[in-house]
Amino acid sequence: MLKLQYLSHSAFIFDDGQNQVIIDPFISGNPNSPIKWEDVKARFIVLTHGHGDHFGDTLQIAKKNDAVVIAINELANYVAKRGVKTHNMHIGGSWNFDFGRVKFTVAHHGSSLDNNEYMGEPAGVILSIGGKNIYHAGDTALFMDMKLIGEMTPIDIMLVPIGDNFTMGIDDAVKACEFVQPKLAIPMHYNTFSVIKADPNEFVRKSKAKGINARTLAYGEILEF
Ligand code: NI
Ligand code: MN
Repeated sequence: MLKLQYLSHSAFIFDDGQNQVIIDPFISGNPNSPIKWEDVKARFIVLTHGHGDHFGDTLQIAKKNDAVVIAINELANYVAKRGVKTHNMHIGGSWNFDFGRVKFTVAHHGSSLDNNEYMGEPAGVILSIGGKNIYHAGDTALFMDMKLIGEMTPIDIMLVPIGDNFTMGIDDAVKACEFVQPKLAIPMHYNTFSVIKADPNEFVRKSKAKGINARTLAYGEILEF
């Protein structure tokens, strides 16, 4: 059993009935977030990279819930120095946790704090939880090796950035889904700021035209599998 909740931007909560995992908890300062950071009960926080619109409320949520932050080594070390439990990983590696498995993949992007301190490489995440494989692409350009990701792990749900400017736009995101061939594609990383305005329904239309099952999620909407 799996519940997936979209919090807007690139933030999602996954719940297998026993464990909650949150990815990229950008809540405070996110104009579209339907919840407050205090509402998050997750004991696991997965980060794709260090940018503020992904790192978000990580430290507060982790301290309140005694949560483990799962991140790329350099970013995890930064978090650990602030008194939070971490599990350090790196691209290509995977590890089993109470809820399932995490594997970090390549993403073509940057990863720094607001002061430009570099936080290692950015990543995508394959999260296996509740019997499903979810590929959260992080912030990334389109790249051919996404084909390998789909070949090595059958992806049930692909969470794909469509907002352009900092990441793929809609047409590249549709091509990314053609490479990965998920059972369901869900757009993310759009309409939070004026420079990433995009129509998620256009993404859905263009995906379906290529034979990819896709749908939008409203802010706060929960899907059950
Ligand atoms: Ni970013
Ligand atoms: Mn971003």
